[in-house]
Amino acid sequence: TRWSRVVVAVDGPAGSGKSSVSRAAARALGYEFLDTGAAYRALAWLGLDRGIDFDDEDAIVSLLDELGDGISTDPDDLRVTIGGTDVTEDIRQPRVSKVVSAVARVPEVRTRLNEGFRSRLNAPGRPGIVAEGRDITTVVAPDAPVRVLLTADEGVRIQRRRAELTDQSAADVARSVTDRDRKDSKVVDFMTAAEGVTTLDSTDLSFDETVDAMVALVRSAAPS
Ligand code: DC
Repeated sequence: TRWSRVVVAVDGPAGSGKSSVSRAAARALGYEFLDTGAAYRALAWLGLDRGIDFDDEDAIVSLLDELGDGISTDPDDLRVTIGGTDVTEDIRQPRVSKVVSAVARVPEVRTRLNEGFRSRLNAPGRPGIVAEGRDITTVVAPDAPVRVLLTADEGVRIQRRRAELTDQSAADVARSVTDRDRKDSKVVDFMTAAEGVTTLDSTDLSFDETVDAMVALVRSAAPS
């Protein structure tokens, strides 16, 4: 792909801070931000809304036509809508997290969503866009000028998720982080950095330090 603007590809496991760090870095750089996981979550939400059987791949694939293009890329106003319904908050519910891996493992889902992601990356807009997910550095934009794998030790990731999800028990949060990483790792490897991908380990960094490190990586690789 010949990218029309600076593409920053970010991957990492659950609780690595991917979303919040990528979003803050996009804001600091004056870039857009694409949360690709939100598309998988929106599709899972739609499946729950329609009451589909998540073992039925054809049923999942048939939802793609209804999904539309409702993910905003403005880091200051992130909204997810499906057919006019705002599902921004709903797609974060545990019931969605529980089934989203079943959606993400369907090859046709990945192919179709990836096409959409690439056209969003290349769409006219701000001078750059930070896209985060599980396979952005390897499949969606392996030729992006900046590619980062954001990691943190598992214990730290669970702690951070617990601070976010205060309405859930500590054991539930720990289980959901490890379960999802295990399921998702079977589909794409997001635990090891592919060749040319910079690992940013946030275990011993504060949120702001992690954002600063990501911004510095972008500035050194894509000076503007
Ligand atoms: O980042 P997240 O937790 O919002 O992602 C939701 C799910 O979507 C997660 O279980 C893995 C999947 N996903 C994926 O398979 N590929 C991506 N590029 C992004 C997310």
